[in-house]
Amino acid sequence: MNAKLTVENLCHVYGENTPFRLAALDDVSFSVAPGELIGIIGHTGSGKSTLISHMNGLMKPTSGRILLDGADIWADPQKIRDIRFRVGLVFQYPEHQLFEDTVYRDIAFGPTNMGLDEDAVRERVEEAMEFVGLGPEYRNRSPFELSGGQKRRVAIAGVIAMRPEVLILDELTAGLDPRGCQELLGEICEFRRRTGCTVLLVSHSMDEVAEVADRILVMNHGHVEMFDAPGKVFAEAERIEAIGLTVPAVTKVFRLLADRGIPVNPSIFRRADALNALLSLRKGGRL
Ligand SMILES: Nc1ncnc2c1ncn2[C@@H]1O[C@H](COP(=O)(O)OP(=O)(O)OP(=O)(O)O)[C@@H](O)[C@H]1O
Ligand SMILES: [Mg+2]
Repeated sequence: MNAKLTVENLCHVYGENTPFRLAALDDVSFSVAPGELIGIIGHTGSGKSTLISHMNGLMKPTSGRILLDGADIWADPQKIRDIRFRVGLVFQYPEHQLFEDTVYRDIAFGPTNMGLDEDAVRERVEEAMEFVGLGPEYRNRSPFELSGGQKRRVAIAGVIAMRPEVLILDELTAGLDPRGCQELLGEICEFRRRTGCTVLLVSHSMDEVAEVADRILVMNHGHVEMFDAPGKVFAEAERIEAIGLTVPAVTKVFRLLADRGIPVNPSIFRRADALNALLSLRKGGRL
């Protein structure tokens, strides 16, 4: 079962009735289909974290609604806990929130809170550890003595272990080296492929979302600037650049080639497509 997520006219004001009043979200509306992978991009302070904190009821809208399978998540405030199990949120640098003395206990925290019995919890912890590439030898280790990348995997596993229908990741790969980024992103894509889970991936990296997203939501000063397939978004390079963002490195190169009269599609955005395009140019003797 995978949920359709809809955001309807969402506004969020910080510091209402104070001199510091700030409208962080201004009439944000969009809808995500079950199983879709959405990349959320925007400059610092554009409202990405504020937006996703509303998806599982961690923040309450100043106005507007969040619908999960057509039902307002705040329809019954007593049931907001259930929404937090259905919509899993992984914050930026989640490794700072580890607190149990073993990897197993940390990952088991969420499913235990869901009221599952010990066997079901164990099954979920084992499954989640496998998804994030942590072997059984990590079970009884202290999360605090692991590397940065491994700690982050423990934190992600703790959310995955709740088997959320929607998984939201804020700056999943921040601070990791390129190989660590690739691996972690690959694991999330594999998790999504195997579970059919909807994924919202907040990222500073256009290159990262270009590789994996079905659609890209571009935030600008608290409103939705664009929400479309990557090819359509990157075809509007000037608009992207005007709001302080860049197109993927691959797209930059192909725009330069096109400008120089080389017959290529200037809005190519995936590395594999770029490679194929270059190979066929070479075959045709044009490069
Ligand atoms: N708790 C808060 N109180 C007051 N203002 C806040 C609070 N949290 C965020 N803001 C402000 O709201 C706006 C949106 O912030 P938000 O953190 O959602 O942006 P973001 O797109 O996630 O930024 P970043 O890319 O830096 O993570 C910013 O102007 C920020 O300063
Ligand atoms: Mg943020």
